[in-house]
Amino acid sequence: MAQSETLHLAADVSFIHTDHLWRTKGSWVGYQYYGPDFYEDIARIAERGLFDMLFFGDAAETPEIYGGNFDAAVRLGIRWPKHDMMPMIPVMARATRHLGFGTTMSTTYHHPFHVARLFASLDHVTGGRVGWNAVTSAYKNEAANWGFDTMPPASDRYDRAREHVKVVTDLWASVEADAIKLDRDNGVFADPSKVHLLNHRGKYFNVRGPLPVIPSPQGRPIIIQAGQSPDGMDLAARYADLQFVARRGLKSMAEHRATLDKLLVQHGRDPRDLGCLWLTRVQTGHTEAEAREKEKRFLDQVPPEAGLIELSFHFGVDFSRIPGEMRLADAAELVRKEQVHWGSFLEIIDTEPPQTTVAEMGRRFIGERASHIVGDAKQIADRFEELHDAGGRNGGIILSKSFAAPGMLRDFVELVVPELQRRGLVRTRYAGTTLRENLNA
Ligand SMILES: Cc1cc2nc3c(=O)[nH]c(=O)nc-3n(C[C@H](O)[C@H](O)[C@H](O)COP(=O)(O)O)c2cc1C
Repeated sequence: MAQSETLHLAADVSFIHTDHLWRTKGSWVGYQYYGPDFYEDIARIAERGLFDMLFFGDAAETPEIYGGNFDAAVRLGIRWPKHDMMPMIPVMARATRHLGFGTTMSTTYHHPFHVARLFASLDHVTGGRVGWNAVTSAYKNEAANWGFDTMPPASDRYDRAREHVKVVTDLWASVEADAIKLDRDNGVFADPSKVHLLNHRGKYFNVRGPLPVIPSPQGRPIIIQAGQSPDGMDLAARYADLQFVARRGLKSMAEHRATLDKLLVQHGRDPRDLGCLWLTRVQTGHTEAEAREKEKRFLDQVPPEAGLIELSFHFGVDFSRIPGEMRLADAAELVRKEQVHWGSFLEIIDTEPPQTTVAEMGRRFIGERASHIVGDAKQIADRFEELHDAGGRNGGIILSKSFAAPGMLRDFVELVVPELQRRGLVRTRYAGTTLRENLNA
């Protein structure tokens, strides 16, 4: 993807009732909580802003690491509840014509045949606008919901993921694009010589195939991978069209992109076959002062425990037991041992001043997990240009959560998108009807 230098836009709308967004002024007003109208409106707004894609993440669990139980997470509504958002995709697709939809299914917990069939079917329903976020699932409490006693180690999860994604892509290719004849006169529905068995027998999966699905509009739905460890980067370089990346500065973005480019070439691909969408939190307004006021309002309502609950959820360590005055860097060994998002923790350590304490990171984590910008449209566009350049103009931005929905998404579309268009950074009309066509234009 990203054959052009267009800055592509996506927004993470996973669980936008959580991270205290249910409390944010302007969120969910006038909507049935978790009903379809809300998501239809979000989709229409994103399409007005000519976004490439809305994205749903997933981790099917109730966080229990902070304090050793789920009391705080449930009471405060942090990372809980977690509906399966898949049914929302056809709803949103019916409300739009061009917008794409990325959604998550785990390579650790779901069978590749199910994933391949579901995404090929969704590709038909959406008219070719769907992408699969292939994650290995590093959130500890999820394992027990899918029949595992403990979360398998990262190296096992990635070993399984390499086989999983290959099986999925082979299944998508098992029916040739011109296999379907629909020849009424001769009574031929499809040409069996163009439909192929897989007979895959692997370390983790046995799949006979073929996929009993008509080739979908994209043929191969978009594949997204968001791993930041060497194994994750390698998986992305082998198979993905897009990578989501949570780097916190221009230098580490450029390094990340250089590593990825090298891996892509090693796997016989072109660096422009894989675009990076850099995770960025944006707070904007008509003026810088208004944006700062909104940011203050947002941060003021974040409960003091929230960041520590999130840190525990992300890194698999109970931060309620770690003294607040401990330097964050001194907690690194505890996090490393857990093997849960270790690469993302290192990124925080590398980009924080050495004196940052656990308590201070807890206070700032919600707002500063990834790169963030507060400002008017011009300031946001200036920063987007810098980020886009640091990433080699090969991909774009995925807006992080922490916005009052739908209000702040609307502000972004009305204030920032026109400024990005004036600078020729983003499109002024959709190039095609499929997600792949739009990502490539
Ligand atoms: C924008 C973004 C979205 C992600 N979405 C999910 C998700 O929905 N489910 C999940 O289990 N992990 C998700 N992750 C985590 C990654 O899949 C990955 O595990 C993480 O970045 C750490 O990299 P590693 O697995 O290579 O150590 C996401 C990461 C990013 C940056």
